[in-house]
Amino acid sequence: MDRIRILGGTQLQGTIPISGAKNAALPLMIASLLTPETLTLENVPRLADVRQLLRILTNHGVDHAIDGKRPGDSPIAGQTLHLSAKHIVDTTAPYELVSRMRASFWVLAPLIARMGEAKVSLPGGCAIGTRPVDLLLMALERLGASIDIEGGYVIAKAPQGLKGAEIVFPKVTVGGTHTALMAAVLAKGHSHIRNAAREPEVTDLAQCLIAMGAKIEGLGTSDLYVEGVAGLHGARYEVLPDRIEAGTYAFAAAMTGGDVLLERARPELLQSALDVLQLTGAKVTATPQGVRIVRNGGGIQPVDITTAPFPGFPTDLQAQFMALMTKAEGASRITETIFENRFMHVAELSRFGAHIRLENDSAIVEGMPKLKGAPVMATDLRASVSLVIAALAAEGESMIHRVYHLDRGFEQLEQKLGACGAQIERLSEAG
Ligand code: UD1
Repeated sequence: MDRIRILGGTQLQGTIPISGAKNAALPLMIASLLTPETLTLENVPRLADVRQLLRILTNHGVDHAIDGKRPGDSPIAGQTLHLSAKHIVDTTAPYELVSRMRASFWVLAPLIARMGEAKVSLPGGCAIGTRPVDLLLMALERLGASIDIEGGYVIAKAPQGLKGAEIVFPKVTVGGTHTALMAAVLAKGHSHIRNAAREPEVTDLAQCLIAMGAKIEGLGTSDLYVEGVAGLHGARYEVLPDRIEAGTYAFAAAMTGGDVLLERARPELLQSALDVLQLTGAKVTATPQGVRIVRNGGGIQPVDITTAPFPGFPTDLQAQFMALMTKAEGASRITETIFENRFMHVAELSRFGAHIRLENDSAIVEGMPKLKGAPVMATDLRASVSLVIAALAAEGESMIHRVYHLDRGFEQLEQKLGACGAQIERLSEAG
């Protein structure tokens, strides 16, 4: 198991290229199951979750090819992935493959939409709360699927095909909206998805489905209207830049007091986080190349935040923002409304000397002038990168264990931070 060693205290200076979004790439790859033709995805990040999903898709019979690098390509350029689900050979997604990553459960929707049946193991993924799938199943039932749960598997059937319907989500769910969209595009007739998630990754999926021949209106709003079609065709589609990766490095730049250009970051995808960052005293400038973050000299001001569905402050940046607040000049309150139990980073951040106490769904962070390097353990994907941010700003050496969590969602983290002057290296267990 790899570890990451960081010698803190260096300001980040330079350019960090932002990769394609993991949370868009995964549903886009799953959408390849909807058509017998080839779906080509560009700007796909090289991540453990992408490789794991390729294994799952291969098990269903999807062929894939990855374009090699061309001369002159940047070493961090995203990869181009060709996915072809000409013959679906197996409609079962087994526990061994699905249990590691929650998003893999989403194969249920295209499998039932195209094949009329699917058997998918209940999901695993990050341990950040109970994360049920009741709303995903509700959406499929509304579209006419019968659902049974047996031995840890969801068995969905719709031998006559799915039928368009009104689907009302009682709470905003990204996975639920992906599921409803991927099922409704091949259902007979009209569907109306109400209280749909407005996350940019949902819009990315909808745009790709439209490029494949789907009829969807209301993109970017909480009402999506779908007119089912008999079949979808192949397409070429570019994955949007990762707003969570961009926000993470923005907070890291502010935390270390630096000057970083987040290349290809799109400010409109993370406006709420950038607004908050400005309130902390950092300077945020949109440029033609991306977003520039500068904090030279001045202290970090405390700011209270509450996570919310898009366009609110993303839950996937909550841990990273908490790291920043541990060095603020005062106290801040961070309230998590999306996932219960998403505070596992609190105990680990405290190892750096941070003062944080929990009050129900809030964390009260008393900023400290200095953090001290420490050995810490990564617990989930976003929590682990909050430890990296804290370690970058802490005095002395930190060692981060269990970094496989980071590899699920952050492409070339050490290289990107190292290129901006961070003293960071990966050690293999033997090293
Ligand atoms: C996605 C993202 C994840 C992000 C989350 C919220 C991917 C691969 N993952 O996860 O990084 O943190 O959106 O922005 O894109 N819920 C139910 N029943 C359901 C489904 C969800 O109660 O059937 C609840 C969840 O427990 C949670 C809330 O709805 O409280 C939002 O979850 P959801 O948006 O579905 O998260 P994911 O799609 O799993």
